[in-house]
Amino acid sequence: MFSKTGRLIEYRRGICVNFVSFCSSQISKLRRTRSKRISSRGLTSRTPAWLQAWTPDYKAATTCGQTYSGRAEMNNPTYALVTGASLGLGRVFARELAARKQNMILVARSRDKLEKLANELRSSQSVLAEVLEFDLTSPSAGPRLVQQLHDRNLQVGLLVNNAGFGVRGDFRTLTLQRQMEMLSLNNGAVVELTYSLLPSLMKHPQAGIINVSSAAGFQPIPYASLYAATKSFLTSFSLGLQEELRSSRVSVVTLCPGRILAEGHNGEAKNGNRKFGFVYQLPEDVVRDALESLANGGGLVIPGFVNKLSIFAQRLIPRRAVPALVAKMSRQ
Ligand SMILES: NC(=O)c1ccc[n+]([C@@H]2O[C@H](COP(=O)([O-])OP(=O)(O)OC[C@H]3O[C@@H](n4cnc5c(N)ncnc54)[C@H](OP(=O)(O)O)[C@@H]3O)[C@@H](O)[C@H]2O)c1
Repeated sequence: MFSKTGRLIEYRRGICVNFVSFCSSQISKLRRTRSKRISSRGLTSRTPAWLQAWTPDYKAATTCGQTYSGRAEMNNPTYALVTGASLGLGRVFARELAARKQNMILVARSRDKLEKLANELRSSQSVLAEVLEFDLTSPSAGPRLVQQLHDRNLQVGLLVNNAGFGVRGDFRTLTLQRQMEMLSLNNGAVVELTYSLLPSLMKHPQAGIINVSSAAGFQPIPYASLYAATKSFLTSFSLGLQEELRSSRVSVVTLCPGRILAEGHNGEAKNGNRKFGFVYQLPEDVVRDALESLANGGGLVIPGFVNKLSIFAQRLIPRRAVPALVAKMSRQ
């Protein structure tokens, strides 16, 4: 016979044991699925990460193009499409992918910058590079962009939803138009483009989507309230989509960087000497983390130890206290 307290302890212990065994069975199930997916792509967990980075065969591209299985095809080249490729992280994505011998489609509004980058990639990496001047906040941008790809017979195997921006300030005084533009670019355009491109991505032997979200999406950020909310939306959408596509050959990476070093006018990194300069990361490091994750089947990527730590730490703070704390820090 147990006392009332004894029965309670026994009951709680039972719950713990069941919970632990449930978790471990789920983890091993996930591991089995992941290793099955990786081996079906010809990758093994022993292959060095830098070698796996997206192109399994890591074969030199020719001007005739290449599929993701590594087979060069004269008539049917496959491309990686990067939105917001004219500068910042998008430009680094384009350079890193081209260095891995991916043909590129560069999307943004500034045609001159895109042309310059395309020429650089063609001559330095011998890949195909196409330019699409496009305003992603225009109505039905996603379907219209996919129609243009179709008209030009451009096959996309990797979609990098990178274009995005953030506005800071008092929500009431920032213009509504600029904030709605941000909402449209950071969320609307990503949903439309992903939805419109998915049918053709699904036909590829190996395809991928990288959604560039932000560490800002993990908590409310007063004075960047809407930006943080757009990134929270994107992270949630992207992680949900990854699960929906788990049994397909489309891998989804949800990239949540913290602060990234921006390029100055002469090409060198700036803003590293700001207060909290140590939290800024090189864009190349962020992109490499994303591509490594893609090669390993996708998932959530939070680059950098400091970002991982701060995201973990705020889970230990009561949710109600977070906005006030963040407001205090962002005003400093
Ligand atoms: N920088 C950071 O510290 C940081 C941190 C976390 C997450 N992120 C995220 O990383 C992504 C890239 O950030 P970034 O700092 O590299 O940005 P950035 O340097 O400002 O570049 C933004 C890119 O988006 C393009 N773009 C802007 N509006 C557009 C529109 N309406 N249609 C098409 N393209 C448009 C811009 O080209 P055009 O002007 O030529 O159109 C540019 O190529 C964003 O999603 C951002 O939220 C950045």
